[in-house]
Amino acid sequence: MQAILQSAYGEPAEVLSLGETTKPVPAKGEVLVRVHAASMHADVWHVVKGWPYVLRLMGGGFARPKNPIPGTDMAGIVESVGEGATRFQVGDAVFGECAKGFQWANGGAFAQYVAVSQEALALKPGNVSFEQAASVPTSGLIAWHNLMGHRPWRSGQHVLINGAAGGVGAVALQLAKAHGAMVTAVEHTSKLAMVRALGADHVLDYSRDDPTQGSARYDLILDVASNLTLGDCARVLKPDGVYILIGHDHYGASGSQWLGSGIPAFLKLALRTAFNPHLIKPNMAAPNKQIGTALFSDLMAKGQLTPVVDRAFPLAKVVDAMAYLQSGRALGRIVLIP
Ligand SMILES: NC(=O)c1ccc[n+]([C@@H]2O[C@H](COP(=O)([O-])OP(=O)(O)OC[C@H]3O[C@@H](n4cnc5c(N)ncnc54)[C@H](OP(=O)(O)O)[C@@H]3O)[C@@H](O)[C@H]2O)c1
Repeated sequence: MQAILQSAYGEPAEVLSLGETTKPVPAKGEVLVRVHAASMHADVWHVVKGWPYVLRLMGGGFARPKNPIPGTDMAGIVESVGEGATRFQVGDAVFGECAKGFQWANGGAFAQYVAVSQEALALKPGNVSFEQAASVPTSGLIAWHNLMGHRPWRSGQHVLINGAAGGVGAVALQLAKAHGAMVTAVEHTSKLAMVRALGADHVLDYSRDDPTQGSARYDLILDVASNLTLGDCARVLKPDGVYILIGHDHYGASGSQWLGSGIPAFLKLALRTAFNPHLIKPNMAAPNKQIGTALFSDLMAKGQLTPVVDRAFPLAKVVDAMAYLQSGRALGRIVLIP
């Protein structure tokens, strides 16, 4: 089969190439999917660059990636099923996350075929395209886990999403709206129309407005862009309002080579959890992919989660797709088509 092969950690143009490799065989509990679309996002960039270095110690491969094929999520058609895989049948249209374990590892999505655990898949609703469905799983699981996985959800709460048009933010916005929240979305001027169309009740333009000033008070601040401080957010949080950091490294622009910026920031917040009313003990358990992906499938079928795809690139143009991701210009998600 054709796949993008990653020879080492480094610059995308130097380490990624289109090549031929063996078609995977589904193991016990896995299904083989003919990939129709796979998504490009910030964590794929991290694993291609091997940045921050600590990710190399987290199971994905020390000197080079253990799995040479990048990509963590995709949508496609079930080609065959492994022993004991009974949830799907040959011919089903499915989507899901193919990275095993921690997401800072290659998952094999940038290929014509990938073998995926049946627990990580759901049926793709007929009203969304393969491109749309492929863009959801990894960002959706992060959004769902951080929005709803740390504490009981309260309908009617006011949620501020900082970076609401990006991969994680756009799903978080729609999940929050589908579950009865009022949402204020913070974004760049060029993306405000998009977040309004996705259902934001209020919008703030980060080039002009400071989301930590003003009279609004929030129950939850989801800091996807990760440029706010807890101290500043405390001014606009309700007394029991909660600050949650996603940890965006902005493609190496922030943080150290070893740890990036997200890990030190999480550790600092973790140390303050016992003393600050706006921090909650994080739920360290990995999100349940079967439940999360089924939720996304249901919301897409009902029209409550509408993934926006900016552009689809052919597999061979993976380097261009990654450069476009880093440019920050995309209005919606970027996908690859094998
Ligand atoms: N998407 C995924 O599948 C995924 C999966 C796992 C983990 N993550 C992690 O989650 C983090 C976020 O990923 P993402 O895919 O959501 O990133 P993203 O698509 O780059 O979204 C971030 C958004 O924040 C906006 N932004 C930039 N500066 C801002 C500011 N000062 N105030 C408010 N908004 C600002 C960006 O707009 P401009 O660029 O126009 O400024 C962009 O729309 C990353 O660290 C990533 O590693 C993502």
